[in-house]
Formats: sequence, structure tokens, C-alpha cells
Amino acid sequence: NRFWVVVPAAGSARRMGNAVPKQYLSVAGRTVIEWSLAPFLAHQHAAGVVVVLASQDQRWSQTALASNSKITTTIGGAERMNSVLAGLGALQERVAPDDWVLVHDAARPCLPASDLDHLLNELSDDAVGGLLAAPVVDTLKRADVNDRVAQTVPRDKLWRALTPQMFRYHILERALQSALSRGAAVTDEAQAVEALGMQPKLVAGDADNIKITLPEDLLRAERILRSRSA
Ligand code: CTP
Ligand code: MG
Repeated sequence: NRFWVVVPAAGSARRMGNAVPKQYLSVAGRTVIEWSLAPFLAHQHAAGVVVVLASQDQRWSQTALASNSKITTTIGGAERMNSVLAGLGALQERVAPDDWVLVHDAARPCLPASDLDHLLNELSDDAVGGLLAAPVVDTLKRADVNDRVAQTVPRDKLWRALTPQMFRYHILERALQSALSRGAAVTDEAQAVEALGMQPKLVAGDADNIKITLPEDLLRAERILRSRSA
């Protein structure tokens, strides 16, 4: 029941508009990426962690994480999908085809350890895999070109995709290679697996497992992390 972890951290964080890449910003006393990696580094069944870095990354080597024996690094690509594929490539020599690979955003620092265990437990006997997700709570509107409401979309059965996303190595590798060769833009691993005709399992997770995308997300993460240690 060992598993492997790929953490894409090679983005340019354009929407944050910050000089320091968001994964290296400080939140609740540690860097974002330290928080994001912590539940995996603490897990006894995590066999190895690949952190995927931008080619121009100057900060990783200065963190304490750089000397962690569980972690290896590799260089990412233009899109998230390319970076995850690079991470899988770095595992190639060590994995068995059916091994589990968990992909978790470097920019997602509020994953509770209990959600990680819940995901692993729910999927351990699964043939394909799945992802943490949170049910949609807001009422959803589809707009026309003039931002007039064209339709109310029933939120029943709608979920927000979170990470980690957990798949069998051979399936994830095939799914991402296939998406790449089709030139399909996929924004998460599940979407690539869906395109193979498979149905990833949705596992209910904490809605506070947010991704740092906009500057205000950092304040929210700070509150979430501080409230847990309080
Ligand atoms: N990521 C990556 N390689 C890319 C693009 C994204 O490894 N080519 C990583 C990011 O570093 C982040 C995660 O994928 O940890 C989620 O992506 P996102 O939140 O979109 O981060 P960025 O692409 O860096 O941000 P933005 O889209 O605002 O530029
Ligand atoms: Mg992005």
C-alpha cells in the first residue's frame, strides 16, 4: 500500500502578481510549499516525493526541503500537464505500473492529514483512482455574452475538484501522454483520465483545502492554518 507523490511547483503564478513565486511565500510561519508537502513527508506509506521545479527556480535549493532524503526534484514544462508528466518520468525507474501516484499542487497548503488518509482508504481497492473534491454550495449561473443570466445550473451533483488526485501510475501516464498528443488542454489529472473513458471517484474533502491563486487566498490560508494549530 505504498504510494508516490508528484508535486508540481513549476508555475509562474501570474495571477498572484508577486515577485516571489507563490509556493515560496510565507504563511503561518512556513513557506506555502513546506505546508503543502508536510502531510506527505509525515506519512509512513509515502515511498517518495518528486517536486517539479521551474528551470529558473533559485529558491528551492535554499530551503530545508532540499536536503530531505524522501524528496527528489525535476524540471517542469510549459503547462501543468507537462510538469506532472515530467514528475512521472522522474519516478519511472522506481514504480510498478499499478502503484498509486498522488498529484498535489505546491500551492495547496491546507490539506488536512485526515483528508489524505481518507482519500487513500476510499481508493485503496479501486482499479482507477479519484480525487478529493468539495460539493458546490453556491447557486450557479451560466451567462450569455452580455453577462445576462442564460441559465441557472442546478448545483446538485456538482463538485469542485481539489488535490491530491490519486491514480494508478500506468493509467495516469497513459492519460497525460494521450492528452498531450491530442493537444487537449486539461486542467487536472482527472480530466485526462476521464478522456480515456474512465470515471474517477469523487472523495469528499475539506473545502478549506484551497489553492493559493489570488493575493487574498494567502490571508485565507493564514487563517485556516492558524485556527488549526490554535
Ligand atoms: N504548475 C506547474 N507547471 C506549470 C504550471 C503550473 O508545475 N507549467 C503548478 C503550479 O506551480 C501550482 C500548480 O501547478 O503549484 C497549480 O497551478 P496554478 O495554481 O495555475 O499555478 P500557476 O500556473 O503558477 O499560477 P497562474 O496560473 O496564476 O500563473
Ligand atoms: Mg496556472
